Amino acid sequence: MLQVKNLYKSYKTNSIKYDVLKNVSFEVCEGEFVGVMGPSGSGKTTLLNSISRFIPFDSGEILLNNQNIANLKEDELADVRNEKLGFVFQDFMLLDGLTIFENICIPQIIGDKNIATMESSANKLCELFGISHIKHKYPAEISGGEKQRTAVARALINNPFLILADEPTGNLDSKSSRAVIDAFIRAKDELNATIFMVTHDSFSASFCDRVIVLKDGNIYKELKRNGNRSDFFDSLLETLKVLGGDKDA
Ligand SMILES: Nc1ncnc2c1ncn2[C@@H]1O[C@H](COP(=O)(O)OP(=O)(O)O)[C@@H](O)[C@H]1O
Ligand SMILES: [Mg+2]
Repeated sequence: MLQVKNLYKSYKTNSIKYDVLKNVSFEVCEGEFVGVMGPSGSGKTTLLNSISRFIPFDSGEILLNNQNIANLKEDELADVRNEKLGFVFQDFMLLDGLTIFENICIPQIIGDKNIATMESSANKLCELFGISHIKHKYPAEISGGEKQRTAVARALINNPFLILADEPTGNLDSKSSRAVIDAFIRAKDELNATIFMVTHDSFSASFCDRVIVLKDGNIYKELKRNGNRSDFFDSLLETLKVLGGDKDA
């Protein structure tokens, strides 16, 4: 599904080169829910933005369903982003002037899809994520958790290969966070969605199948959940403690 091979990324500030990702390689399989953790500044957002090519990377390969996106032109990239990727951001990024239902439909409208199919897909997603009762409201009229579930529905409506989420629960209280994580789990279980989620929250991460831990631009460790979620939560906490970074940063 997603293969990242030998990814290098540096930033230049005042002509000083600063390496952020140093030879990062990993894979995410279809239908997998994978988390990325690591101290603040370890390169998590840089990794996500490199995968979507919102920022350029120095070298390496990124294969999305065997297509290398490293060399795509801007217009081809726009199609990949709309059709093959779904995005969920910390600050929701909903359009205030559109209803919840209309926000969910945006990727289909951009893709010029059939209206009847679009409406039926949007209605199904509203039902799946428990937001049918608010679909005619506007973003300012709903809670943070409802906004983020709207964003998850929007990310899924084009049936993308991969959902990229950067701190999706970062602005939410624990109850709303749980509802958003439940939405991801439903997407995985019922739509076979593949989810790649950056989070600093061990509780949210403990619902993942696997967690990649970044440190100083390298993969420090990969932890797999074998069975019990609360055991996985404990081993994530332990790993982050040993790693020393501020886990809440
Ligand atoms: N546009 C940029 N220019 C220069 N340095 C940057 C830029 N974006 C991020 N960085 C630096 O790269 C490092 C990794 O940042 P980031 O990927 O945002 O980390 P994380 O999401 O893990 O907190 C940080 O030290 C950050 O200051
Ligand atoms: Mg970040």
